[in-house]
Amino acid sequence: MEHWTSYWQHTESLNSFEHGNQACQYSGEIRRYWEAQIWPLADNSTIVDIGTGNGAIAFIAAAAAAARQANIKIFAIDPAEIAPRARVEKNLELGSLLSSIRFFPKTYAESLPFNNRSIDLVTSQFALEYSRLGESIAECSRVLKPSGKIRCITHSLESEIVQNSIVGQRVLSHLIDEIPFFSTAEYLLELIGSAYAVGGVQRLKHDNAANRARRDFNNLMKDLDAKFQTDSERDWLESIVLNVLQLLKLSESFTLSEKLDSLSKIKQANVLCLSRLSEQVSVAMSESRLSELFSICSAHSLEMCEFPFFVDGMLFGHVIEIEKDNR
Ligand SMILES: C[S@@+](CC[C@H](N)C(=O)[O-])C[C@H]1O[C@@H](n2cnc3c(N)ncnc32)[C@H](O)[C@@H]1O
Repeated sequence: MEHWTSYWQHTESLNSFEHGNQACQYSGEIRRYWEAQIWPLADNSTIVDIGTGNGAIAFIAAAAAAARQANIKIFAIDPAEIAPRARVEKNLELGSLLSSIRFFPKTYAESLPFNNRSIDLVTSQFALEYSRLGESIAECSRVLKPSGKIRCITHSLESEIVQNSIVGQRVLSHLIDEIPFFSTAEYLLELIGSAYAVGGVQRLKHDNAANRARRDFNNLMKDLDAKFQTDSERDWLESIVLNVLQLLKLSESFTLSEKLDSLSKIKQANVLCLSRLSEQVSVAMSESRLSELFSICSAHSLEMCEFPFFVDGMLFGHVIEIEKDNR
């Protein structure tokens, strides 16, 4: 879970988008979908948001309940070590919603800490699919009241998001696992740092080892340029390479130990990002995973329907709606 714990502890975002139209908090069609699930709930209902992260869906639910002046209790679980409360306490709008939300870090969908037949609605955006579906659906069925509902938006293998993650996965795994990109940058940085410390720019110009390392690094960059030519490959490449190139620039305040530390942090952040991308791609709903979910639901006498969900005309994910019978 380090890949998610680290993400939620470092991001300012409530959701898993740090960039793009949905960065920080969901809006538009996505927000409206979730609000429409909250509005019909009776007063004193209880919701569980699965894989809540920094609480994006929990906060939408709390705001929708507050707008209706309904008393709705929200439990928000995630296996990562999330701490959204501390993050939003001082935010006037979000802080005021905290009293209706209780967060449960280190908590898996496969083992929910709630009583049998105690929950009216289970929500999950881009999270239920990360669980072992047989176990998590059994748990949801156990905790739901008769006629309770599960509402999910899941990743879809064909969505723009997942297709872009497949590209990111290819670029990152090449840089991290297939070529000596970070070790060459580190070696070059060390040589630049030592030559510069001894004799400044003049010494650096005539340092053969540093010049050779610079050539090796530039050759790697040329190979990368030739290998990754589509716009989305280049976006991923630039997001990493520009930060490393920035470190290799000389400046008055060049401190080798700080630069090496920054390089190691850039590498670590990308290793964790690669874990998140690989996991997302492997859990995204395919035809076969959807039919597996249908079978699991029917084994628990749950009614399931699913349909594609479009945002701005593009496939965003799959909506999965599951109902428990009234017994
Ligand atoms: C893509 S994030 C989505 C977070 C949030 N719902 C959102 O929309 O921003 C996936 C989340 O699922 C959580 N997760 C992974 N495995 C899980 C499991 N077995 N049970 C519940 N949540 C899980 C991760 O820790 C992560 O926070």
